[in-house]
Amino acid sequence: MMKGEPLTLGLIINGLLWFLVVQIFGVLYTGVFGSVVNNVAQLHFLAVFLGWIGFVILGAELQMSRAFTALRRFEPETLRWLLPIFLNSGLIIALIGTALRMQIMVILGLVIYLIGVLIHTYWVVQQRRSPLFKFPLGYHLLAQFFYIVGLLVLLLNSLIGFYGIIQERTNVAIVFTIGWIGLVLTGTMIRILPMFLGKVINRGMKKYLWLHLLLAITSSILLIAGLLMFSSYFIVTPILWIGAILWGLMWIFTLVILFVSLSSKRKTLNKVTLFYFVPGIVSFSIGLLFGMAYLTNYGDITVIRRLHIHLTLLAGLSMIMLGASHRITSFQIHSIIYSGRKTEAPPISFLLMEKGYMVLAITLVISQLVLIVGVVMGDTRVFGTGGLLHLLASTVFIGGILKNYRFYLREKDNAIPFDRKGSEV
Ligand code: HEM
Repeated sequence: MMKGEPLTLGLIINGLLWFLVVQIFGVLYTGVFGSVVNNVAQLHFLAVFLGWIGFVILGAELQMSRAFTALRRFEPETLRWLLPIFLNSGLIIALIGTALRMQIMVILGLVIYLIGVLIHTYWVVQQRRSPLFKFPLGYHLLAQFFYIVGLLVLLLNSLIGFYGIIQERTNVAIVFTIGWIGLVLTGTMIRILPMFLGKVINRGMKKYLWLHLLLAITSSILLIAGLLMFSSYFIVTPILWIGAILWGLMWIFTLVILFVSLSSKRKTLNKVTLFYFVPGIVSFSIGLLFGMAYLTNYGDITVIRRLHIHLTLLAGLSMIMLGASHRITSFQIHSIIYSGRKTEAPPISFLLMEKGYMVLAITLVISQLVLIVGVVMGDTRVFGTGGLLHLLASTVFIGGILKNYRFYLREKDNAIPFDRKGSEV
């Protein structure tokens, strides 16, 4: 890493590699290659939240801080090194501990990982000082709180010996998905999706953003409280219903703000991003309906649970994260290599590879459909085949990003050094 190098690029590429690990555990978990070892569930779970989602969210947040609050420096330099080292080594130790059923290793790994998250939190908190329009920093700060709480609960589970019990994992997943991911996703999409497409948040909608934040906070807290009671005692309380309905309203509100902002007359740029965000948002919304069905105890609970989880997290969130990763890494590389140079920069299209990435998006959606059909049919082979196809398509996806990264490594010595750019890029 060169001095002052943006952390986002490394963290997102690192997250994409963890995505492959998630899918390998997922395919093993379907049982398509024979009997399923119990630990695979825990391995899949840890790689999903602490690896794939964790790295991409933490990396993207640092990029957004730079772009929105213009507080660009993530110092001291030693912490920049320690952040990826702590996150990766912590997660690897926790995974090995899980595979070998060595509780002490799981605890050690989680503590190391948590220190990495605290370093990141230190930088996110610093962004408050910026005098600029900071939206969605409020979402990020609150989400970070929930991420730390979730990690502490996970650690506590390991310490008091509940480790591996599905019920406990479900509780952690509730805090992670609603408190951390939900807040980051909704707040960030409102600001970043229009920006990705060359647009901005609609001016008329800006005055309602405080209401969105209020709704997001209230509904998330009620929904978490209600779901924790549900998953521990199987009781559906009024808190749960009110929380779920308010959360649903908040999601509809998010879509309305996005729709109004995106329908502005400005030219739409980089349409490839839409190939990931649109199916992602549709699948996520359908996945939420299956979440409601889960609460009403309607239909086959195992199937509904699997549909809810994979529509929201795989076909929904992961597609959105893939689209964002493709866009952020391409723009970062282009800007690091060419900004500040006297000669004219080539168009970014050679990094975006739009056509190829559109075809990949379609392939990913098809494999998600196969996976979903497998879940509905209760057919392990179809479920596993969908998973394998998805693994294949995302390997090609990541191959393209790594090709761009190789170009960056080759060219970065010719770039204007960070200290002479006056900002970190
Ligand atoms: C190739 C892709 C994938 C396959 C084949 C796969 C397969 C599976 C299977 C078979 C289960 C067990 C379901 C059950 O019986 O309850 C599961 C659970 C789960 N999956 Fe996936 N998965 C994949 C990708 C993902 C991704 C990308 C995410 C999130 C971003 C994810 C999140 C989860 C979660 C949170 C659970 C619940 C874990 C638990 O607590 O038991 N999966 N997955």
